[in-house]
Amino acid sequence: MAKNKNNLVYFCKECGYESTKWLGQCPSCKSWDSFVEEVKIIEKNIDIFTEISKKPDIIPKTIDEISDKEFEKTKIGINEFDNLIGGGIVKGSLTLLGGSPGIGKSTLILQIAKKLGEQNKSVLYVSGEESLSQIKLRANRIGKFSDSVKFVSETNINKIIKLALNTNPNLLIIDSIQTMSSDVEDKTPGSISQVKTATSNFFRLSKEYNISTIIIGHITKDGSVAGPKLMEHMVDTVLYFEDDALKNLRILRCRKNRFGSSDELAVFEMDETGLKEITNPSEIFLDGRPKDATGCVVTCIIESNKPILIEVQALVTKSSYGMARRNANGIDINRLNLLIAIIEKRMQIPLFEYDIYVNITGGLKIKDASIDLAIIMAIISSYSNKVLGDDVIYCGEVGLSGEVRSIVNVNKRIQEGMKLGFKKIFLPKSNIDNIDKNIIDKFKNNIEIKAITDLMT
Ligand code: TYD
Ligand code: MG
Repeated sequence: MAKNKNNLVYFCKECGYESTKWLGQCPSCKSWDSFVEEVKIIEKNIDIFTEISKKPDIIPKTIDEISDKEFEKTKIGINEFDNLIGGGIVKGSLTLLGGSPGIGKSTLILQIAKKLGEQNKSVLYVSGEESLSQIKLRANRIGKFSDSVKFVSETNINKIIKLALNTNPNLLIIDSIQTMSSDVEDKTPGSISQVKTATSNFFRLSKEYNISTIIIGHITKDGSVAGPKLMEHMVDTVLYFEDDALKNLRILRCRKNRFGSSDELAVFEMDETGLKEITNPSEIFLDGRPKDATGCVVTCIIESNKPILIEVQALVTKSSYGMARRNANGIDINRLNLLIAIIEKRMQIPLFEYDIYVNITGGLKIKDASIDLAIIMAIISSYSNKVLGDDVIYCGEVGLSGEVRSIVNVNKRIQEGMKLGFKKIFLPKSNIDNIDKNIIDKFKNNIEIKAITDLMT
């Protein structure tokens, strides 16, 4: 349908908010300049109340009537990935795999298809981005595929759904949702209405026909195509490749999971034959650590129940401009500003005329507040030009009064530190009673545990 004044509608490309006119700021998610114009899809309006006298065709159940049989899960055979999604792909689930272009989405999904093929499970891989020979080129790097994995290069949703219903695969892969188009009126692939329609069709396919589906979605830095943000509400599981990972590392995070815990994370390394699981991320994240450098502090964070040792680096230099610069990589800039304010106020160190840069090596984005103490120690180390030692770990959340507050999973953190040969660990005083003596005894190279109450002592 041609565009005219009456059939236009505006969508926020961040959250999907719909408006009849263009808006500078989205009233729902507060994003600026996020509205895009599209042709309205006119749906047939059926008055549901005309059918109200009829007998209902759905029946509610009591909790006891609901069967509590476990969801049927299929293990892929890539351990880190299986753990990430809660033990395997649930039958009939819809998963979104997001990430920037070129990060490795198609590679990972191809490896998943290969693993399922090895178990004689049928996979239908639909690529709307690449020709079959392009897929073959990538597949050749990864290895040999079983005949139960089938490929098709197609963008038309109607044809894809027809094929899926006919072949009933154990896993359907859509690479990517932005290339799909259905016969709705605005035919531009990647437009918000196309992405919405495509997702809801695959949602129906997975729920009504019990076909497990993984959809790939791109996020571009400038957000020019419909981001998969609005799809997050529709799918069961959301996986994201984190940007900015260093070296060849790829960090895959689970942001939402209806069948397991979210906030899980898996680390992979990209080499010439695809993505390899990293089972001990600490070693990788600490690899190449400078010896006796100022501003470098090691801490142990807990990500998806796993302890991971990482290095926090700070650089404090005299500011040459009127206003001091603050730069945070891997942590929230507001958290950094708060910690700087705590140092100034509680430790009486004037930092207002210093530029401060903080970087988390490896490219992880850290939300675990137990990193506070390490950030503060790194800043102080760089400011005072003092080395804090290569074999020391700092863990603790820091409060506004400069108090070091307790953290969870201290034993796991101590154990991980000992495993990698660290000799001293600073922990919040309130955690000392929770330490399991047996863990320390298990490792012969005793670790010295230091308790801190606050920054002032
Ligand atoms: P790809 O999976 O195509 O990314 P996406 O689907 O997220 O856009 O991966 C692209 C990059 O990965 C590309 O730069 C090549 C690299 N790569 C390897 O380094 N090793 C491999 O074995 C494969 C298949 C890809
Ligand atoms: Mg791809």
